[in-house]
Amino acid sequence: MAIKRIGILTGGGDAPGLNAAIRAIVKKSLKYGYEVYGIKNGWLGLIEGDIEKLDLDSISGILHVGGTFLGTSRTNPYKKEGGVQKVLDNIEKFKLDCLITLGGEDTNSVSNKLSKEGVKCVGVPKTIDNDISGTDYTIGFDTALSITTDAIDKLHTTAASHHRVMVVEVMGRNTGWIAMLAGLAGGADAILIPEVQFDFDDIINRIEERKKRGKNFSLIVVAEGAKPTPEAEQIIKSKEVDEFGHVMLGGIGQIVKNRLKEVGYETRAVILGHLQRGGKPTAFDRILALKLGAAAVDLVKEEKFNRMVVLRGTKIIDIPIEEAIKEIKYVDNDLYELSKLFY
Ligand code: F6P
Repeated sequence: MAIKRIGILTGGGDAPGLNAAIRAIVKKSLKYGYEVYGIKNGWLGLIEGDIEKLDLDSISGILHVGGTFLGTSRTNPYKKEGGVQKVLDNIEKFKLDCLITLGGEDTNSVSNKLSKEGVKCVGVPKTIDNDISGTDYTIGFDTALSITTDAIDKLHTTAASHHRVMVVEVMGRNTGWIAMLAGLAGGADAILIPEVQFDFDDIINRIEERKKRGKNFSLIVVAEGAKPTPEAEQIIKSKEVDEFGHVMLGGIGQIVKNRLKEVGYETRAVILGHLQRGGKPTAFDRILALKLGAAAVDLVKEEKFNRMVVLRGTKIIDIPIEEAIKEIKYVDNDLYELSKLFY
């Protein structure tokens, strides 16, 4: 059966560049003669049948705007009573021949399961965390990196003026991509990531080494998922888990700050939080989103389903969704080794 109608949705945490990707999907779909339907608020919209037809007017003026005009949610149809059946019923009711799902590991794990029930899905990787396997970059990561680097630069000047140790806590869940790359770009004196246990004595030694060189201030970037020992629990804001089983991380920055205060440093902690997901996408994220969005529609045309479009080097290729979601992508050791050069 030839494809006539495509449904698109954005799920999980929003990320700058999603609107650019939707714009490319709609433009290319219309070029190929497909009808496109926007599903509101991720999988929730498919459960509730909150779906509307998209045209050129729907995507006008959105390229540079952050967030997602379709809305998003962390809804998991597999965790809702009758959720999957409602999704299947609405796919039939709205005559959606296939879905393009823009999301991270969680959203695309649902696409992967639905594919096994006969739903035709194409995945597009987005998350500020950059933790999806098989792609060098995810939509939104570059913008988060740029916001975080800018914040570190701002903290640098105030840290220097007050001779303080500034601790900045950044997002990233169980990986340290934002912390590592923004830390490198901002010249952090310590970068604490979930992939590598950290040692308070080591941090103190670095602060002291800097003092000996006349540098009476230091910058410490800590990923929300970092912990001092492999046995230590991650610090959480709330024990509540979302429908994909995630707790809300947050608070390690304050713990690092308190520990440094105990040994006599004047310290302040800043949690960047959702600022990292806000505002307009960088040029890199816009171009990446345009390329991935257009490539997703090409996959539909070629009738290659249950695959995800990804960036490898400068090329867009496609891989099975299963391969992209089977494990998260951790910060590689080369980057960690590079960071040690600057301590
Ligand atoms: O996955 C993106 C992300 O921003 C993580 O870095 C963070 O842990 C989480 O989402 C925050 O989730 P919420 O928007 O539900 O607070």
